[in-house]
Amino acid sequence: MEAENLITYARNAREYAYAPYSRFKVGAALLGKSGKVYTGCNVENASCSAGICAERCALSKAVSEGEREFVAIAVICDLKGPCTPCGICRQVLAEFNPDMQVIMANLVGNTKISNISELLPDAFGKANRLHG
Ligand code: THU
Repeated sequence: MEAENLITYARNAREYAYAPYSRFKVGAALLGKSGKVYTGCNVENASCSAGICAERCALSKAVSEGEREFVAIAVICDLKGPCTPCGICRQVLAEFNPDMQVIMANLVGNTKISNISELLPDAFGKANRLHG
């Protein structure tokens, strides 16, 4: 799938963002190895730390539907430059595929393509554990 295509899914999902506290809407679209696309948006809460980012929303939807292998994720928000995933989302995405392509975008067409290993070098992970 083309990066532009995945960005379009993310842009559409952003419309559903529930962000009454930050008023900052984010959309994500995660491409599974199966070819299926899982979308997500940020869902905030009056108890701030209970909110979830768009990327983890998409990932939770995917894993809960049986998909565990991912090729790429697109993230979009209204910033001057491309929307870069937060540290927690980088860690959570690294759990499933450190080589996952990350397509970052904003509403006016700026894009940047990277991958999780580049965005989160030396990530903590089960592969590095000495025991079990
Ligand atoms: N947010 C995301 O959805 N993804 C990110 O990678 C960064 C931040 C959301 C969380 C919160 O609802 C809002 O953006 C402001 O931080």
